[in-house]
Amino acid sequence: MSIQSMKTEKDGLNIIWNDGSSSCFPWLWLRDHSESEADLHPDSKQRQIDVFSKSPDNKVIDTKLDFNAQNVIVQWHDKSNSRVSFELLKSLASTKSPNSQALASDSCWNSTKEMERLPEMSYEDFMGPNGLQVWLLHIHKAGFVLVNGAPETPKATKELMERMAYVRNSIFGGFSVWDNKLENPDDTAFTSLAIEPHTDGTYVHDAPGLQTLHCLKKDSIGGENQLVDGLAIAEKMKIEYPDYFKILSKINIPGRYIKTDTYLEARRPLFRVNDEHKVVQVSFNNHDRAPFRLDNESMNKFYKAYKVFHNLANDKNRQFQFMLEPGKVLTFDNWRMLHARSSLTGYRQLCGGYHNREDFESKLRLIK
Ligand SMILES: [Fe+2]
Repeated sequence: MSIQSMKTEKDGLNIIWNDGSSSCFPWLWLRDHSESEADLHPDSKQRQIDVFSKSPDNKVIDTKLDFNAQNVIVQWHDKSNSRVSFELLKSLASTKSPNSQALASDSCWNSTKEMERLPEMSYEDFMGPNGLQVWLLHIHKAGFVLVNGAPETPKATKELMERMAYVRNSIFGGFSVWDNKLENPDDTAFTSLAIEPHTDGTYVHDAPGLQTLHCLKKDSIGGENQLVDGLAIAEKMKIEYPDYFKILSKINIPGRYIKTDTYLEARRPLFRVNDEHKVVQVSFNNHDRAPFRLDNESMNKFYKAYKVFHNLANDKNRQFQFMLEPGKVLTFDNWRMLHARSSLTGYRQLCGGYHNREDFESKLRLIK
């Protein structure tokens, strides 16, 4: 779509596109979105124009389409000019409320058979020129990625994570090394017990975006890892159990983490959706769910809906099962994938940490 012509109107500037459609941009909006050097800092891209503290005189003297520079120029009565690029006008040709970014539902998977291919790559490829891009796109599409043949050290694992962005700090520290022989483990993750499919951080307002795990030492039996695509469950429930989907996207489920010196609690729906009813985030941790009570009818409905999700998440046919081995680094989208672990006997040492969601989105934005 490109600009064909424009027409000044009382309410704003009407841009006529080459497909015959038109978009009328209000005069104040044009002034507020001016991209001239004076109005939008050329380096920081931060807004300099202030249309609020002193009401600008929005009487228009002249408007011009600059096809060479691909800008619309508006000259105002107070002799100032606004410059808005064709690109910006085109990107906002239709009006809609700003929305939280939805998960990539076109590539969600209900079983490993539905995965286009196993999202894995060699450490060598990851460290190569396009390695990070491939890694990011695997996570974007499949919800996770495995890097094989990585050096079996905390240092190399931390460096792998830092290739994407800084490691996030949390109640468990930043980048950490742990084993299953802690005397006083403060989470099931640090034991040999089985853990049901869940997402991490249901008790923090901003759940970790990505999680990386690397098993550095292994002298154990069992302890297989499972991944389930929570987004695929959401899409299935949206169609097959629309009432339950609605319940799980409405009720703020509290999660908690209680230790002697810590009491974290946060709440959000199992399916966080945007204004277009698209799923933005899946949050589920039955182990960490805090007590709450609704009226009896709503509570019963909630239990029914939660049960459907729980049972789908625990359906072995939906799970990708694998063993974390030294040299195999797993990173998954904690806003989409549920992870689980079978019980084990013996010794395991792991390392890993979290990334913030916005840093993952930032990198994706730069490569797409
Ligand atoms: Fe976990």
